[in-house]
This record gives sequence, C-alpha cells and structure tokens, in this order.
Amino acid sequence: MKEFKKKVLVTSALIYANNSVHIGHLLENTQTDIYVRFLKLRGHDAFYCGAEDTHGAPIEISAAKQGVTPEQFIAKWAKEHEEDYKRYLIDYDSYYTTHSPENRHYTEFIFKRLQDAGHIYTKDIELTYCENCKRYLPDRYVKGTCPKCGAKDQYGDVCEKCGAAYSTIDLVEPYCSICGSKPIRRPSRHYFFRLNDFSDKLRAWLNSNKNLQPEIRNQILSWVDQGLQDWCISRDGPYFGFKIPGEENKYFYVWLDAPIGYMASTAHYCKGKNFTAEDIWLGEDSTIVHVIGKDIIYFHLLFWPAVLMGSGFHVPDNIVVHGFLNVNGEKMSKSRGTFLTGREFADLLDPELLRYFYAANLGHSMTDIDLDLKTLQDKVNNELVSNIANLVYRTLSFLDKNFDSTVSTTLNKELLADVAKKAEGVSDSYYDYNFREAVAKTLEISTLGNRYFQDNQPWELVKTDKEKAQRVLTDCVNIVKTVAILMKPITPVFAAKVEEQLGLTALKWADVDSVVENHKIAGAKIILRKIDPIVLKKHGEAKQEEKNEEKPTKPTGAAALDLHVAVVTEVNDHPQADKLYVLKIDLGSEQRQLCAGLKPYYPKEELLGKHLVVVTNLKSAKLRGELSQGMLLAADSGSVVGVLNASDSPAGTQVTAEGISGKGAPQIEIGDIAALTLEAKAGKAYVNGKLLGTEKGPVKVDKGIEGKIR
Ligand code: MSP
Ligand code: ZN
Repeated sequence: MKEFKKKVLVTSALIYANNSVHIGHLLENTQTDIYVRFLKLRGHDAFYCGAEDTHGAPIEISAAKQGVTPEQFIAKWAKEHEEDYKRYLIDYDSYYTTHSPENRHYTEFIFKRLQDAGHIYTKDIELTYCENCKRYLPDRYVKGTCPKCGAKDQYGDVCEKCGAAYSTIDLVEPYCSICGSKPIRRPSRHYFFRLNDFSDKLRAWLNSNKNLQPEIRNQILSWVDQGLQDWCISRDGPYFGFKIPGEENKYFYVWLDAPIGYMASTAHYCKGKNFTAEDIWLGEDSTIVHVIGKDIIYFHLLFWPAVLMGSGFHVPDNIVVHGFLNVNGEKMSKSRGTFLTGREFADLLDPELLRYFYAANLGHSMTDIDLDLKTLQDKVNNELVSNIANLVYRTLSFLDKNFDSTVSTTLNKELLADVAKKAEGVSDSYYDYNFREAVAKTLEISTLGNRYFQDNQPWELVKTDKEKAQRVLTDCVNIVKTVAILMKPITPVFAAKVEEQLGLTALKWADVDSVVENHKIAGAKIILRKIDPIVLKKHGEAKQEEKNEEKPTKPTGAAALDLHVAVVTEVNDHPQADKLYVLKIDLGSEQRQLCAGLKPYYPKEELLGKHLVVVTNLKSAKLRGELSQGMLLAADSGSVVGVLNASDSPAGTQVTAEGISGKGAPQIEIGDIAALTLEAKAGKAYVNGKLLGTEKGPVKVDKGIEGKIR
C-alpha cells in the first residue's frame, strides 16, 4: 500500500494484561514497528499506537486469586510489557490502556450512537450460573461433557475433540471450573448488536478495499455469505470492565471496548498536539492500519468495522494479518522448552537479531513462520554479519588505516546509480509489507558493495594509485550509508552505530540520493560478531521426560499419524491426470484440498458427502500441479479400492488406534507412512495391528476390501 492520507495511524493488537509478552507476540510487534519506522523514514506523518487489553472475567478472577485489585493487577503487567517492548526496540508513540477515561468515553459514546441508530436491542437469554461462586459462568469458566460427541472436560463454547460449537447451557453434566459445583441455568437480559444488518455494507467494504489480503477477504466474505449472528456485547458482574450506563450489574463485553482502545490510545497520543483523535477517526484525512494475528480476524474484520460503520466512524483502510510463530517446526510448547517469553529469549540472543530474523521471514501473508534456531543462527552469521557488517567494517577500517578516515570523491557513478535504483526497490517491498523481500534486496546491494571492494583490491591499488583507491573507498562508504538507511527499520541500533561510525546522523530515506564526499568519518569498530548455536533450556517437565524416556520425542507407530474425519464437499477431475480426483474436504476447523487416485473406483456422486479418514499432518505436496494437503486412507485389494469410512462421526473428529492418538503430531513425510503397517481386514482398519476408530466405534472399510491401506 503506497497511498496515504496526511496522517497514518498504525496499531498492533492489544495484549491481554494477564500474561507475559512471548516471542509470538513479538512477531506482530516487530512487524508493526518495522512498518512504522519505515514510514517515518520515508517522511510520512505516521504514529504507532497500542495499549493493554485490561478487561474481562479472567483478569478479574486472577486478581481476586492473588488478593489484589484488578487495577493493581493490570498495572503490574503493563509495567512488565512496556519493559519488554523497549528491550525489543518496539517504539510505540502511544502505549496506553483500555482501562482509561478516554476509553470509557469512546465506548459509551459509540454504544449510545449505536443505540440511537437502532443497532442494539436487548433479549433475555439463559446462562449458566454458579450459586456457590455467585457468578455467571462465561465460556471458559464452565466445563462438562460435549453435547455432540460426549467428550469429557470440554469448555463451555467449543469441543476440542470434535470441534462442535455450542453455548454453555448445552454442556452435559456441567461443572464450575472455579469451584467444581454444578451450575444452574439462570435467565439474564443482555444487549445485542445487530451485526447481521451490516452484511451488505461489510460486503461492499470488503470488495472495495483493495488493500486487504485476498485470502482474508475471501474468508470473511464466506462468513458473511453464511449469515452473521447478532453479537452479545454485555456481561453480568462480577466483571472487570466498564459498567453499561443505567445498569446495575452489567458491563460492556471486553471485545467491545478493546478495539475502541485503539481510539483511546490515539487520544492519548494527541494530547498537547494540534489535532485530535476525532480528526483521525472521524475525518477523511487519515489512514488507519491495524496489524493483527490470524486468530482474531472475526473481531477485526466483522465486528469492528460494523461497529465503526454503525457509529459513523472511519473504517480501517487496511488490516494486515500475519500467521503464527512456530519454533523448530512445531507449535510453541512449554514442555519442549519452546514457549519462550521475550525475557527468556533476550537471555539467549540480542533482541535485535530476532528482529532481523522475523523481518527476513515476514511476507504479506497469513502463512505461519517457523523460528528454526539453526536457520536463525545461519541467517545472522551469513547475512547480517558476513555480508552487511563485513562491508561496513572492511570499508571503514580501511579508510582509518590508509586515508586518515577521510573520503574524497566518488568514482563509479554508474554503480552508485544502480544502488540507488535498487534501494527504491527495497522501499517498494517495505510499502508492500514484504519485509522478506526488502531484506533480500538489501543483501543484494551489500553483496554488490563487497564484490566491488574485492574486485578493486584496494590493498594493492593503494600501493600504485592511492588517489583512485581512496575514490573506490568513497564509493564503498556511499554504499554503506545506503545499506544503513535500508536497515534502519529492522535493526535500528545496528544502523545507528553505523551512522555514528560514518560520522553522519539521523539519515532519512531521502539520503539514499545524497552523496558523501570530502568527509571525515568517525572511525571503525566491530559492531556484530558471529553467534554460537542457540541452546534452549528445557523446562522442568521436559527434563523429567528426558530422564525417564530414552527415546527421542518424535512420536512413532500410530501416534505419528494425526488422523481426522473429513467430509468430502466437492469432487473434481484432476486437469492433468486421468486417475486422480481433486477433492475439497471439510475438517471441521478448516477446509483443504486433496488429490486421490479414486477415479477408477468411485463415481463422483458416491464420494460426495462421504466421511473419510485423512492423515492431516502429512507434508503438503503438488501432484501434477494440484495441491494436496494430506492423504486419505483407502484399502487396496490389488484390483479394487475402498475408502475408510466414519459415517457417524462429524467432520474434524480425531481418529485413534485403540486409544493411541496422533493429535498434534509433527509433520511427516510419505516415507514415514510407508514405514507403518496399515491393513484392512474383515471390514476394519488397523495401524501396526491396532484397530482404528472414533468414539462412535471402529472405522469401516468400504466394500469390505481386504489388503494394504495406502
Ligand atoms: N487482546 C486480544 C486482542 C485485542 S485487539 C483489540 C488478544 N490478545 S493476545 O495477547 O492473545 O494476542 C495479541 C496478538 O498477538 C494477536 O494479534 C495474536 O494473534 C498475536 N499472537 C499471539 N500468539 C502468537 C503467535 N504464537 N504467533 C504470532 N502471533 C501471535 O488477542
Ligand atoms: Zn463455582
């Protein structure tokens, strides 16, 4: 995105004030911070606003448990978070809190506007209430048996086993997760926002906003097309939040006032300035960009724009959605020692180097990012140290030694013009949120500089043509200056040190085009050195696991297969292969595409709607140009093929082998499956001799086929 109005407000999602900043959060903060630093460097009037997300039942309950007031509780977290952001060079222009007078003002104001415009109504609903704790129990505070699949100990909103969504009163044998007693049903009157009334407007906004990522637009549009449910925006006390005006014991739901916190933080920023938050949020002369993770798109691309539309505010110009951070190829995990807080990671590595790694991986996409510690080490050593920092040091130290730290005039205008042109390409990549590309292009420039230095052999040249050697070095200094500018958004401390050694200060993007000549530099010092392998300390549990188990943690046997029930929603011919179908499948929480060699054995209609069994953790592959994400299991007699069938289990249900579950198992390759014994006998399916099934009973083999499963 390159077109901006006069002022540009950029935000990161507001972290909950009850947990430490971890390296996943920092991915988002780094992404936002790089972007804002870049805009400022380019001369835009950009500012970065954020805040603590302080309201909700969990915060109220945790504070009570610790015997402190919620205000004390959130203050402690705010302090910790701010220290962590500083450490990672996250430079908020305004860091505020949702528990602020400004936020109360905007929340009440917006609520009133929505009410006056008829977008809000009240309705009596039945809720779970604990008579012992004397509180209504929201989603996470009541547990019980899933009404759909019968799995025990599930939360009140969604079953982790089968993926079914329901409300707390539907749970079978519910219990209060605070005190364990059985809750009762109790009616309560609540406020609802008519989200569904905004379907057309949302659709129009989604279609007309060209900045949004296409995959996000499509996802949200499909939700709109499926029909939106009105949104309950109130909660009963005890609750930590803003009381709804005129109510005794009802509060605004945290997700109503949390995004309004962006406005409150803007107001905080505007204090003492000659413009106001209203200029930004009501006026037309501003650009608003939110950066968020993929888990909160419903809130930011449906609720939030609808609330803004309904109350007459400026709808976001862009919402940039990033994927999740994994560590060493897997979800961050406490027991593997990979769930690292910012502080813990700062003990292992200079935070600026993590910023570099994140930048080198961030594209404008929702794809997850893998923090592989070996790759991190290699990137830092081979790119940042051996390429960029090397160019800086060899250039400046050569000048120190041979030319009394002084540059003369440039020599190779063509080279410098090429560098300036390439630098403009880096700028384009930054504007596109494609930081990975910005890094790659910057490395190209630095490589050019190193090659130029090398090719001219100044250490020889200085003996024969001292003047020319100095001019070669002047060219190199100009490349160093440009590289420093390009790196400023990502590694601001490193870049500042380079500036200092160059004897230049506060370089702006425009200085890419200025030429450094007849100038004395301050002198060279090594800024970065190669780093050692990063070794994670394992947490307590993990240490124990290690002691008791000799085997590596990689699961083996049936536990290596993450099997789920998938419902076939679409069957198409593969455009390039006679025997293959391209299937669309529903896995409950996600939709995928699979290629399968079933065409000779099944007509399309027969496959449609079938409940198949799919290996979900198989590495995705392209089969003759079509993406295949996983593998469906089918038995092969040698002449006929029959798929495995779990017709009475819903999409997404975990399939296990006599209790052995591959839930969350790491990614596997096709060879790992071949190493297992998968067989069909008497209409049933076995992995290494263990019967496959769900809670509803054994999985069936179509047509009773016996033989290998593949
Ligand atoms: N408080 C809400 C956001 C309210 S915004 C009006 C919230 N907080 S959070 O602390 O759970 O998450 C804050 C941000 O961090 C979210 O954008 C979330 O997607 C992001 N991340 C949390 N864990 C993450 C990873 N492991 N990887 C990348 N981003 C992650 O949601
Ligand atoms: Zn209770």
